[in-house]
Formats: sequence, structure tokens, C-alpha cells
Amino acid sequence: MQSGQFLYQRVIEVINDMISQQVLKPGEKLPSLRKLAMQLSVSIPTVKQAYYHLEGQGRIYSKEKSGYFLSDAEQNALPRRCQLPINPTEVNKQSLIEQVYEGIHAPHQAKFGIANPVTAMSDEAVLAKLMRSTLKQAGEQILQYGAMDGLMELKQQIVQRYLRMGLSVSLDDIVITNGAQEALAIALQCVTQPGDVVAIESPCYFGIIELIENLGLRALEIPVCPDDGLWLEDLAKALTQHDVKACVCSTSINNPIGSAMPENRRQSLLKMLVERDVILIEDDVNGDLHFTKHRAKPAQFHAKPGQVITCDSFSKTAAPSYRIGWMLAPGYVQRARRFKRALSCSSSLINQWVLAEYLASGAYDRHIKKLRLRLQENKQKMLCCIRRYFPEQTRISDPRGGCVVWVELEPQFDGGKLFNRAIAEGISLAPGQLFSASERFQNCIRLSYGQPWHEIHEVSLKRLGELITMMMSDESEP
Ligand SMILES: Cc1ncc(COP(=O)(O)O)c(C=O)c1O
Repeated sequence: MQSGQFLYQRVIEVINDMISQQVLKPGEKLPSLRKLAMQLSVSIPTVKQAYYHLEGQGRIYSKEKSGYFLSDAEQNALPRRCQLPINPTEVNKQSLIEQVYEGIHAPHQAKFGIANPVTAMSDEAVLAKLMRSTLKQAGEQILQYGAMDGLMELKQQIVQRYLRMGLSVSLDDIVITNGAQEALAIALQCVTQPGDVVAIESPCYFGIIELIENLGLRALEIPVCPDDGLWLEDLAKALTQHDVKACVCSTSINNPIGSAMPENRRQSLLKMLVERDVILIEDDVNGDLHFTKHRAKPAQFHAKPGQVITCDSFSKTAAPSYRIGWMLAPGYVQRARRFKRALSCSSSLINQWVLAEYLASGAYDRHIKKLRLRLQENKQKMLCCIRRYFPEQTRISDPRGGCVVWVELEPQFDGGKLFNRAIAEGISLAPGQLFSASERFQNCIRLSYGQPWHEIHEVSLKRLGELITMMMSDESEP
């Protein structure tokens, strides 16, 4: 052992040796904690620490009651870094978004187009029971308008969750919204005027692109690294060249690429934005769906009032149909309340009530723990199928959480055409262009593993691989 090296690092070295000597191959089970601890004469917690570390890097993953496995992602070629654009762009994506939205929401045998992780393991029985008991308890009260900024009991639960992460939050700084989408819309309206430039991730969740278009803003696309979130070097350059008002960014897990911004980069991001008076609007909807041991702390954790607005919801973890989200907006609450009142008055009281009970009972935490494991298993299955059935040159992201994987095909490939062909065969997917405010990512697609995994999913991925290969050979013909 090298001097200054911790014991767990020695364990990691041993595992690295096993991988390089192919004693351990992608997808195979690692030795149990007890066995490795005995073999290396270290304690079980030391091996556990090494496994957590490797899990955090996405190199291994755990399966409920089965132990740890070597990620298949070891062999993935990651998507390439795209270029920082010279200028911000006016956005004109609404008609494409509308078409794709209709396409992916129609019934299909394999729904790879919708990022709805809850379907992978929904907690419907528990939520239904809570709904019945809430209706009984609340009686006629439940039919009234709720408080404009949200149900106190739910806000208290949210505050407690932040407290457990180490973030002390005032109840008054929270406004309950209709999903994270409304929170993002209000946040953008709080800090921008039509015509302003907003820095966004590239690729970026298309709901944000649509909002930017609707609010008459301009988008500046900052490339996202498949591992660590926004390329901060690119953002720094963009901030010196343009008058950027706000930066919308997933500080935990990006949709569609699945990258996760490490804590030190989140701090650097904030510092960079604060120096230039740019407000960070952080989209944290996938924060609870991390595949690492700990949940990432929101950037709000490091901020002073007025620097960050955090947007989040229960859509990815409990029930998207409830349409309950929130914003944590120190310094902007008065403005946020005005927008909320003008937009929708208040959010569904019964749904807030049920969620408050769900969180208070501990059932939510039990559920997301299981959901995360299920999603991790599904991710491995999907990556395996993509590698098996898609052309060799395919590049795949290695999601650190959430429920989607980003697939990059040859530069001339048309993801839009594939979308139409696949839809015609009952397979939905999201074409890459949807995730750019301009015309990027034509050769990319996003696939969701947020669903119960059946044989039909493997069959459908095989078919997608065939379609891609066919399309590529059609295009290469003179
Ligand atoms: C990254 C991201 N942000 C925000 C939203 C909107 O969430 P909600 O359904 O809570 O409005 C979504 C939904 O797909 C999302 O993927």
C-alpha cells in the first residue's frame, strides 16, 4: 500500500486490477463485501466505502438483495462535446415539439419517448389509500381554493427535506406550483424581460426551450459534458461575450444526457454567475433519482438570497398527474407570488394534502429508494441492448441518475426520420433536435428506461437497431 493511501483506495486498486486482467467483466457480480473484506484483511465498512466510491463514479451498480455488479458502461463511447455557438438564438421550436409530443403520447408497445420514471415502479396503492383517507378526513374543506402559495403542511415537509440535506430554508421562500414547469415559467418571468438572453444547457429539456420561445427570450446554448454537467469553460467564455440575464441548468441530473454536476463544479458555476450578476435557475426535478449514495445538494445551498431560484416537483418521483411542484426563491418570493396568482391562483389542494401525508409517513423515501434501484437495473438493461443491437459507432451517455439515455449516431444520421419510422412500428423515442434551441443534435435520440422492463423492450430496441442500420446504409448509397 502506498503511504498516505486510505484503506478503501487499496480496495479500489484491487478491483481495478481485477477489471484490467478481465477477472471481472462488464455485467458480472463483484465479490460480496464479506468475502472481499476477508480476502484483503480489511473491515466490511472499508470495502463498502470502496464500493460506494465506485458506484458514485457509475463504474459499478447495486441490485436489491443481489449485491454489486460491474457496469456495462465501462465500454461506452460517450457523446462528443458540441461547439459553443457564436451568438444567442431566437427560438422557433414549438411546432416540432407539438408534433413529437403528440407522437410520443399515443399508445405504443415500447414507450422510449416519454421520460416518466414513476411508471418503472409506481406507488399507486399507497397513494390511492392516502387519497381515500385524506378525502374522509378533510371533508368539504378539500373542495375549496387552497392558499395561493401552497398548503402549509406540504411546505413544512419540503422544508424538512431541505433541512435533512443541510439547507436551512424559510417556509416563506417556498411557493407551491403546478409542476416544475410552472415553477420554471415563473422563475424566468421573475428575472427576465422579453428579448433577454438566457443561457441553457445543450442538450436541454425541451420544456425549457418552449418556455424561452413563449416568453420571447433568446437562448444561448452551453454544451453539456456527459459526465459533469455544463462545460464551465464554455460558460465562462459565453458570459464574457454576451449580456446573459439568467442561466437555467440542472444542477443534479441533466435531461436528456443524464450527467451529474459534482459539488465543486456547482460551487464554481455559482461563483461564476454571481460575479456577473446572472441569476441561476436550477432545475432539480431529477435530484432524488441519483444513482450515487448521496443526493446532490442544490446550488441554493451555497447561495445568498437573490442569486438562485430552485425549481422542483414530485412529477418524477411520485405522480406527474398531480401536477405539484415548487420553487424555492429567496429574494423573489413577492414577485413569484404575483405571477402565481395571475397564472393559476393556487394548486390542487387534495393533491398537495396527499403528498404532505405521503412525505410525513416516510412512504415517499421508501418508495424513491426502490425506484432508484429499479431505474439503475433498467439502465443497465437498456445500455446492454443498445450495445448489442445498434451500429458499432454508436455513442451512448452513461446516466448518473434519472431515466433517460442519450444516443449519438453518425453525423449525417437523421433522428427525425427514425422517429417517424419507429412511431409507425409502435416504438416511441424522442428525436435529438427537440433538445436544442437551434438545429443541433439531428443525429441523436433520447431513449427512456423509465418503465417496467419486459421482453418487448429488448425486441423493440433490436428493431430500432435494425432501422438505424438500414437508414445508415440507405444514406451511404450513391
Ligand atoms: C428536466 C425537467 N425539468 C422540468 C420538467 C417539468 O416537470 P413537471 O412535470 O413537474 O412540470 C421535466 C419534465 O419532464 C423535466 O424533465
